[in-house]
Amino acid sequence: MKFFVDTADIDAIRRLNEMGMVDGVTTNPSLIKKSGRDILEVTKEICDLVDGPVSAEVVATDYDQMMKEGRHLAQIAPNICVKVPLTWDGLKACKTLSDEGTKVNVTLCFSPNQALLAAKAGATYISPFIGRLDDIVLDGMELIRDIREIYDNYDFRTQILAASIRSANHMKEAALIGADVATAPPNVIEGMVKHPLTAAGLDAFVKDAADAGIKIV
Ligand code: E4P
Repeated sequence: MKFFVDTADIDAIRRLNEMGMVDGVTTNPSLIKKSGRDILEVTKEICDLVDGPVSAEVVATDYDQMMKEGRHLAQIAPNICVKVPLTWDGLKACKTLSDEGTKVNVTLCFSPNQALLAAKAGATYISPFIGRLDDIVLDGMELIRDIREIYDNYDFRTQILAASIRSANHMKEAALIGADVATAPPNVIEGMVKHPLTAAGLDAFVKDAADAGIKIV
């Protein structure tokens, strides 16, 4: 499973990238707002930093304006992936941009049928939002499972980008189901290293090494 980092925080992207944990980056208008930076400037900086796809989202909701914005974003760097919402106009923009050779991430997916439409429209990525479904007491992971089955039934090449990931457990479940990519905030990716038995075991080893005077160099 590829890891995308879901942030516009340059320091966090750099930190994870140095560890080989960044196969791509996703942003959205809320993350850009949080960064306090200009969208074009911060997106360019991210594209220069990472080799993989960087999703930048349009803010228009009608096809013509989405196309203007999408084409403008696509010029930022060769690794831009234009993010469009899962609406009829968004799917139309997805089809046109994909036909033009631009990578497209269709976002705000909450149902298997929406994912089916995005694949038919030529999306490079479909972003089903796990956490937001869990928030309303539905099963976000069931959506990932359903899309995996549907895409495999028909050999769709659209990649499942599990999004709105809130925990290390979401990462594990998405990987078990076979999501192609998971995009998660930096703290979730970093939190995956933690296990109480690792911490307790290390404490004991450090103590025993000190007690025994073990010195390697
Ligand atoms: C995905 O591309 C979105 O940016 C993101 O995963 C949304 O996550 P949230 O529901 O935690 O805001």
